[in-house]
Amino acid sequence: MAITDTDVNSKIQEEKVEEKVRENEEQAILRVENLHTSFFTDSGEVRAVNGVSFNLPKGKVLGVVGESGSGKSVTAYSIMQILADTGRVVEGKILYKGENILDYSEKKMNSFRGEKCSIIFQDPMTSLNPTFTIGWQLREAIQLHTDYKTKEEANKRAVELLKMVGITEPERRMKQYPFEYSGGMRQRVMIAMALACEPDILIADEQTTALDVTIQAQILELMKELQKEMGMAIILVTHDLGVIASMCDEIIVMYGGRVCERGTADDIFYRPCHEYTKGLLRSIPDVKNMKEKLVPIGGSPINMLSLPKGCAFCPRCEKALKVCLENAPDEMEMPDGHYASCWLNVKKEYEEEINAENQKTAGKEHA
Ligand SMILES: Nc1ncnc2c1ncn2[C@@H]1O[C@H](COP(=O)(O)OP(=O)(O)OP(=O)(O)O)[C@@H](O)[C@H]1O
Ligand code: SF4
Ligand SMILES: [Mg+2]
Repeated sequence: MAITDTDVNSKIQEEKVEEKVRENEEQAILRVENLHTSFFTDSGEVRAVNGVSFNLPKGKVLGVVGESGSGKSVTAYSIMQILADTGRVVEGKILYKGENILDYSEKKMNSFRGEKCSIIFQDPMTSLNPTFTIGWQLREAIQLHTDYKTKEEANKRAVELLKMVGITEPERRMKQYPFEYSGGMRQRVMIAMALACEPDILIADEQTTALDVTIQAQILELMKELQKEMGMAIILVTHDLGVIASMCDEIIVMYGGRVCERGTADDIFYRPCHEYTKGLLRSIPDVKNMKEKLVPIGGSPINMLSLPKGCAFCPRCEKALKVCLENAPDEMEMPDGHYASCWLNVKKEYEEEINAENQKTAGKEHA
């Protein structure tokens, strides 16, 4: 059988795609594959995360966005293995530099948490001990997780870190207690604490939600600068797409414990391909058009104890099809290269194929 130019071209194309996938996988410092996490409660199994997958390349920023209860924190806590006693990863892999951390011993996991991956929570008061000075707490983290073992070395490093996160008069501030710091300053201390071990990955879970917008912007700006300086990868967890968009190399949108769409900020903002993402965008203010009315997503969040059989967003989706009720849509690549899981895209592709077929047939008949 003769090999045509088309065969050769498609082979070259296939090889290019495979090479790109290989490249991405090699670069990824963290890969989450088909993660399922559940809580086993008296009322039944709460399936909080249902098949989440993503790649976090070295030195990149990934935004995880979704409304309350969509499984953002549970995904983050699964990576850190800090789930409540009733919670368990029931399926999937979490690969750090190719190793499945779910197979790690408790000792190895402790060093992963302390040295490779750090997390910052929304409320610093839950992480800072009110009865110890900031200096004491920073010193302890440094001595525990780094090679600065003596009190003097750790003290010096703590002062350096406070300076790095923009705390003025760090020597004096070291002697103060958390209540003597403002909310924004406490967040800066949390960042300093998380950076103490120079982690490869930093997870910030709704870190700036409780702060006013100006301080929020300052903290995000600081994170951006530190990320560039230290080259770590960051996972930014938030329910507020508008706040983090400019910082992220990639954004994943979650609903009902699943990823509904993933792509660059431009893909998500200008070419959304999932009805939930479109709803999210309609509900955030557009600075260029402040007169436009905000439209909240109708209906109530799903009950994670009894997830719908098909698309999790189906009960609230105005464009739902019959198939959405029964079958969860698979992730599909969009023409611009980003990914979405919505039956409407399958329908659109099918209709385009039929149209193209019809045009071809009409052309032949005409000839
Ligand atoms: N300890 C727990 N026991 C039972 N269910 C839990 C537990 N922790 C979380 N869940 C459930 O898992 C689901 C996902 O929760 P998660 O905290 O990840 O949401 P989230 O997206 O971070 O929301 P938020 O924006 O409010 O922080 C929710 O339905 C929540 O009720
Ligand atoms: S799959 Fe169906 S229910 Fe889900 S977002 Fe798309 S159209 Fe709506
Ligand atoms: Mg959360």
